[in-house]
Amino acid sequence: MAHSLPPLDYPYDALEPYISGEIMTLHHTKHHQTYVNGLNSAESAYASASTPKQRIALQAALKFNGGGHINHSLFWKNLAPSPEKGGNGGQLKDGNLKKAIESIWGSVDNFKKEFNTTTAGIQGSGWGWVGVNPGSKRLEIITTANQDPLITHTPVIGVDIWEHAFYLQYKNVKADYLTAIWSVINWDEAEKRFAEATA
Ligand SMILES: [Fe+2]
Repeated sequence: MAHSLPPLDYPYDALEPYISGEIMTLHHTKHHQTYVNGLNSAESAYASASTPKQRIALQAALKFNGGGHINHSLFWKNLAPSPEKGGNGGQLKDGNLKKAIESIWGSVDNFKKEFNTTTAGIQGSGWGWVGVNPGSKRLEIITTANQDPLITHTPVIGVDIWEHAFYLQYKNVKADYLTAIWSVINWDEAEKRFAEATA
């Protein structure tokens, strides 16, 4: 069955002033759509490939477009309008996730600082993650390159660090984008993923 672009749970301009409506529109309707199209065509070519060599030749396209589709689908759910716009963005309630963050990083602010420092260090395009290590059940900050999905951990929060995610608004100042994004992080979604990963 073909993959399709998942609808957003909020209007394109609902994350302003932190992420502009122009970025959200292009990011969702153009960039994410391109990964969906690329995944569908790679899967259909894979299905009709008749030799191992033909199937191996499709691995890179499957990884890139499949990762792009998986990562962006997670990312949209990870975002929510801020309270000024009637949403719950940026609001981390008392609970198990907050407790886990405070026990590892000392405070939520320290966690954000470390996440942003690690993520700002990505060379080129990639993703910043906080995920649950399936062995230890502990939260860890991880980065992946390109559109590689997070497969070593269960993702709790993923942040797109491709220039297409911020350049129109923040230009080259990735640090300002990373500071702003915490105002529209959907912590309720993160809490749900954390509960599932640690159950
Ligand atoms: Fe993106």
